[in-house]
This record gives sequence, C-alpha cells and structure tokens, in this order.
Amino acid sequence: MSPTLRITRPDDFHLHLRDGAQMQAVLPFSARQFGRAIIMPNLKPPIVTTDLALAYRQRILAALPDDLNNAFEPLMTLYLTDNTKPDEIIRAKDSGSVHGVKLYPAGATTHSDAGVTDIARCTAVLETMQKYNMPLLIHGEVTDPQIDIFDKEKIFIDRILSPLTRHFPELRIVLEHITTQDAVAFISDAPSNIAATITAHHLRYNRNALFQGGVRPHYYCLPILKREVHRQALIRAAIGGNKKFFLGTDSAPHARSLKENSCGCAGIFTAHAAIELYAETFEQAGALDKLEPFASLNGADFYQLPRNKTSITLSKTDWQIPEIIHFASDTLVPICAGERLSWKMTASAQDN
Ligand code: DOR
Ligand code: ZN
Repeated sequence: MSPTLRITRPDDFHLHLRDGAQMQAVLPFSARQFGRAIIMPNLKPPIVTTDLALAYRQRILAALPDDLNNAFEPLMTLYLTDNTKPDEIIRAKDSGSVHGVKLYPAGATTHSDAGVTDIARCTAVLETMQKYNMPLLIHGEVTDPQIDIFDKEKIFIDRILSPLTRHFPELRIVLEHITTQDAVAFISDAPSNIAATITAHHLRYNRNALFQGGVRPHYYCLPILKREVHRQALIRAAIGGNKKFFLGTDSAPHARSLKENSCGCAGIFTAHAAIELYAETFEQAGALDKLEPFASLNGADFYQLPRNKTSITLSKTDWQIPEIIHFASDTLVPICAGERLSWKMTASAQDN
C-alpha cells in the first residue's frame, strides 16, 4: 500500500474566487480540500462594504456543489480604499462574517486601482481596526515605478510596514504571499500579532521559471518569483515550526487568453492541486510532519478561529495534472499543466 498522510482539514488563508460563472468553475477545487478560505475582495467593482461582502458570501455558498454544501466556509474581507470609514469596520466586525480588511497599494497588482494611494489617509480606519481586533491583510509591495520589481517587497517592509507596526502596535497584520528572505526575517522578529502567508508557487519555483526557454506567462504573479536564496528562506520558514507562517495559496485564475497575451495578467492558478503542491515541497524538505501545523493549525490560531474538526488524507500516488481547466466560457492553464505530482488527496473524513 502506498504511504498516506492524514491531517486536520487545512484552510486557505488567501484565495481569489472571482465571481459568477468563473467562480462556479474554480470554487469546487478549493471547497474539496479546504474547510475555510479567506476570500480576496478584488472583484470589479471591489468589495468595499460589509453589505457587498455579505452578498458575495451568499453567492459563494449558493455556488457550492451539492456534495460540498456546509463543508466550506468563505471568510470574507473588505477592500480598503482612501475613503473607507471607521463605521464600516464596526459593521464588518458586527457581521461576524468579515475576517480581515485588505490593503492593496493603488496600482500594485490585479484590480488594485481602487486601492490606497497613501496609508496616512487610513489612520482613523486603522485605529478602529486595532480597537475592534480586525486584521489588516497586506499586499506588501511599493508602487513607485522607479523601484526595481524584485525589490518592491523589501522596500515596502522598510518604508511602510515597519513604521505601520510601530504606529499600531496591537493591530493584527498578515503580510500576504511573502517572497523574500527579508520578509521572513521581518516576520520572524515581529511580535505575535504579525504573521505571513506563503504560497505553494513561491515555495516551488524561483524566478528562472519565468524564462525557461522563453517567456512563461503562467509563472507570472505578483509579487513576482524571486531568486533561489529567497525560495530557500521561504521553505525554512514554512517548515520551521514558527506559528506565524501559514498557508495562503493566492490561487488566482485568469483566462488563458489574458495570460498568453502581449500584456499578460498576474496570477497563478494552484487550487486544483493546492495541498498536493505543498505536500511535495514539504516532503522534499524532509518535513512532511510540519505540513499539518502550517496548513491546518497556525492560520486558524492566528485568525482566532476554531481548528477544523474534520480531516483529509493524502496518498503517495502518481497522477497527472490536466493541460487545461474549463473557466466559464474560456479555459485556464493550471500550474504544472500536463505534469505529474506524487501526492494526491484521496479522502475526506467528517471526524478527526
Ligand atoms: O498574481 C497576483 N494575482 N497577485 C495578486 O496580488 C492578485 C492576483 C489576482 O487577483 O489575479
Ligand atoms: Zn492575492
């Protein structure tokens, strides 16, 4: 019999589900593996109010396939703008369904044009978030076009995040999808109210993947893949047992035609094999036993949510990823399209 690994059902603390028929196409992949997911608010138009978040939540629940009804809980977020009012934070908190507020520096990434132009404009809102225990989720890259794309995360930490943590010492912060050894060092040294998510693709690839034999648009995401030394630092953080690092896929589907384009969109789709991709990385690092805390425990603890009571089982099974996945009227190219993976989620149990 092939080796198996049973873990508490994981959660995805950073997920793009899109909306409508596109959401219908990708949601089952996440709902099958994860108990809960933090749902990114960068729709067009963005989810800037609690009412919009609650309506989006209902659309997600309605789109769940029958066999996954009640098995998946979307954890909603608000999109922070220059005009977000403190009252909106209180409404969000009172709803019980909004679990974070997302800071996109304006222009930093996909659908971020409505984001924050200057964090100083958000002082009152951040004070309210600190007071009401509402986490701030950060896309940590500066937007100054003069800054080299590979330095944007480090400079964001130095110029924006570091002062922010001093001004709001109690604010709970998640630095999303970290990509550098600088981010790992910053989070490791920070107090326990500051944490980070790590994607499967930043653990698996360095920036060479973008240019292997030509330009590879399906490896393009933001923050962009970095040098090998940074990938190694991310792996050490993920397997190192520090509770401040946890799973967030940043699975971000885009139609194939918008990726294979003269100006291709940022975003890598990983939801079809999310837990398997992480399992491969952890196994290669000799740390499969660290997968459960990273994927299923640390994030729930940080978000002050109960740990999931159900479990999933992964088996050492060779399987092939499809070349394309249907995406509403389009298709998308998933990560590792046509390649083989060595772990597969094979079972899902109601009791731990
Ligand atoms: O690569 C990315 N894609 N990074 C983001 O921050 C946003 C995401 C998307 O929405 O496609
Ligand atoms: Zn994202």
